Amino acid sequence: MTLPPEILARARSLAREIERHNHAYYVLDAPTIPDADYDALFRELQALEAAHPELRTPDSPTQRVGGAPLDQFAPVRHAVPMLSIQTETDIEESGAYNFDARVRKELGLDETDPPVEYAAELKFDGLAVTLRYEHGLFVQGATRGDGTVGEDVTQNLRTVHQIPLRLAGDAPPVLEVRGEVYMRRDDLARYNEAAAARGDKTLVNPRNGAAGSIRQLDPAIAASRPLSFFAYGIGVVEGWTLPPTHSGVLDALAAFGVPVCTHRAVVRGAAELAGFHRQMGELRDTLPFDIDGVVYKVNRLALQAELGFRSREPRWAVAHKYPAQEASTVVEAIDFQVGRTGAITPVARLKPVFVGGVTVTNATLHNEDEVRRKDVWIGDTVIVRRAGDVIPEVVSVIQERRPADAKPFAMLRHCPVCGSHVVREEGEAIARCSGGFACRAQRTQAILHFAGRRMMDIEGLGDRYVENLVDLDYVHGVADLFRLTLDDLLEMKRRADERDGTTPETVKKGVVATRWAEKLLEGIKTSRSPTLARFLFALGIRHVGESTAKTLADWLGTFARVRRAPAPLLAVLPDIGATVAAAIADFFSEPRNGAAIDALFAAQVAPADEHAPHPDLAEKLAWPALYAALGVPRLTPVRAQQLAEAVPDGATLARLDHLDLIALPLPAEVGDALRDWLDREDNRKLLLALAELRGELLAALPEAPAAGSGNPQVAGKTFVLTGTLPTLTRDEAKAMIEAQGGKVAGSVSKKTHYVVAGAEAGSKLAKAEELGVPVLDEAGLLSLLESLSESHGSTPPNQGETQ
Ligand code: IVH
Repeated sequence: MTLPPEILARARSLAREIERHNHAYYVLDAPTIPDADYDALFRELQALEAAHPELRTPDSPTQRVGGAPLDQFAPVRHAVPMLSIQTETDIEESGAYNFDARVRKELGLDETDPPVEYAAELKFDGLAVTLRYEHGLFVQGATRGDGTVGEDVTQNLRTVHQIPLRLAGDAPPVLEVRGEVYMRRDDLARYNEAAAARGDKTLVNPRNGAAGSIRQLDPAIAASRPLSFFAYGIGVVEGWTLPPTHSGVLDALAAFGVPVCTHRAVVRGAAELAGFHRQMGELRDTLPFDIDGVVYKVNRLALQAELGFRSREPRWAVAHKYPAQEASTVVEAIDFQVGRTGAITPVARLKPVFVGGVTVTNATLHNEDEVRRKDVWIGDTVIVRRAGDVIPEVVSVIQERRPADAKPFAMLRHCPVCGSHVVREEGEAIARCSGGFACRAQRTQAILHFAGRRMMDIEGLGDRYVENLVDLDYVHGVADLFRLTLDDLLEMKRRADERDGTTPETVKKGVVATRWAEKLLEGIKTSRSPTLARFLFALGIRHVGESTAKTLADWLGTFARVRRAPAPLLAVLPDIGATVAAAIADFFSEPRNGAAIDALFAAQVAPADEHAPHPDLAEKLAWPALYAALGVPRLTPVRAQQLAEAVPDGATLARLDHLDLIALPLPAEVGDALRDWLDREDNRKLLLALAELRGELLAALPEAPAAGSGNPQVAGKTFVLTGTLPTLTRDEAKAMIEAQGGKVAGSVSKKTHYVVAGAEAGSKLAKAEELGVPVLDEAGLLSLLESLSESHGSTPPNQGETQ
């Protein structure tokens, strides 16, 4: 079968285009098309190649992935040996001067001769490889091995997107490119996060990540690792006239489309070498990848040849190091730190060790799972790493050096700061203190949240005041805010200024500004009667944002009911899932939180708009739904329905004995699970509490359902706000819609009834037009909101519920 020329042309053009986008994305870090378009091109090429396998050339972008696993790597002899490099371990300036002096001596230069020109580069911390290109096509890639014989890792190197499969421009018949495969720190972190989530092994550090990936027999593994590449030299070359300098060689490689790091310079003499070392040292922490030093190379190739080699190291190059980023030391203890959001992090207390340029005494262990995975015990000798601007971390344990008296790690059950119980939600790596603002570690953050604009909206209570009030011990819990006096505030300010050395001149002269404090006290006072929704949001309950707080307030009506509600009752409310329900119930079960709330009430803070439960609550509280929300394994909604037919309410269920339970018309495994669940006394109590609160809620329901109340044009309708409205803020518009029973959502879908668009409305407006959702401007919204009386019986334009 001959290949139609138009197919061949299309495949070629696709391959070229894809590689161009690859280069832009992976090398230039400047994507040229959306991912979806790229995928479409890629799939089109794959389809062509599937239909016409002869199109599948080695430089096709589809050939980067795949290939069968090998039994072993084939040896590759390096015609030009891959040399190592002499290391200057003197990390001071003198390291540069020593090298320059040696070079000048070997070249027979004296003080009167001009300075030697050097190419200065970074020393990348990865794996050295050589890439052989024949007539521009990547044909073989190998590791350094012993310098003379390495391993053929072509398949794996093909998966590195930064490595061109074909050189750009007029490539020579043979060109070996030498350089370093490495892994960026952010790529490593992202990879590790995903690997840990899958339960896979994580990579210890970028160097091992790079080296380990390239030395995998299965190319699929290499393909799954985010690797990068920089060229720093050449090997065998045929049919190409070399530029006269090393820097010229690198420029030429860059022009062939090979990635060359831009942090390089041509410098003259020792002082400039030392300057480069210092500059890159300052840059080191902000680079996206690890370096362990810089490399100086005599720039003129002719001089390099004159200098030659000593055993396996050239005399014309040196690696000038930086302080190591990894070191070993001993774990003296494992403590726990509580973050501002309550996250509890195990921290290794270390025998002080110099690493990454500083003395390190603590290193993070991230979380419980990480400690277990790395198997860190107290007394262990560990490798500590400090790279970039990240916190030092324990990388691994040197197991052979575990002493006989080493102590295993034990996770905390209570917060080391406040004693509240520690919660770790299912599927979460992070354990948290449940103390909220009862916990000193979280106090500042919790109070700032409490006082925020969408919460209690305490005017004038900025970050600095909260920090000072907490640090100087004026405020221990949120309730203390409401007991502050003018004297407290002025004294707090005076002490903070004194501490920070910021006492204003006027104060020194005896003039004390009081206006701010009076305003703040006023702000605190007017915040005393928030809506129930704001109050609930302000408490900082995990997972309870503005909309969940509003649901709770709308449906249950009073704080006391929310506080007492068992998790299954919360879980049947709209948009509240089991996790959120559990978090709410858990928050109120912590006595410290209860005390903080009671203190608020004692300080005369209370929601102002408490009301009867939502008229539709009775439907939500049907026993089949509540049964299904209990969290009994296998008790699915269908089984819960069957259970409710046999046992009409939870109070009855709580009182059934084993024989009653066995007689229930449920499948055996469901019945077993239910019996196991009821065997726990706590669960029977939960059922009784649930039944009791349910009864109270139903009794508190308004007599007649509130039909006809609210604006039928708005009630139950979903609005999406986009762009800037001429007079209303987004919050105001939202509040007005919600006041008439409407909902405000974040994105446009078929279920959206109206999009309200202001100036510079973007994709949401386009989406509305695409879906045919009616679009209102501010005036349109206002007239809809005012149509309360005359609008009965009119048909809403978009019957979302019917879809
Ligand atoms: S040149 C003639 N340049 O350092 C010297 N090597 O011992 C040949 N390395 O593992 C190497 N960055 O992979 C050179 N800019 C750089 C380098 C570099 C890192 C690695 C190289 C090898 C080791 C040399």
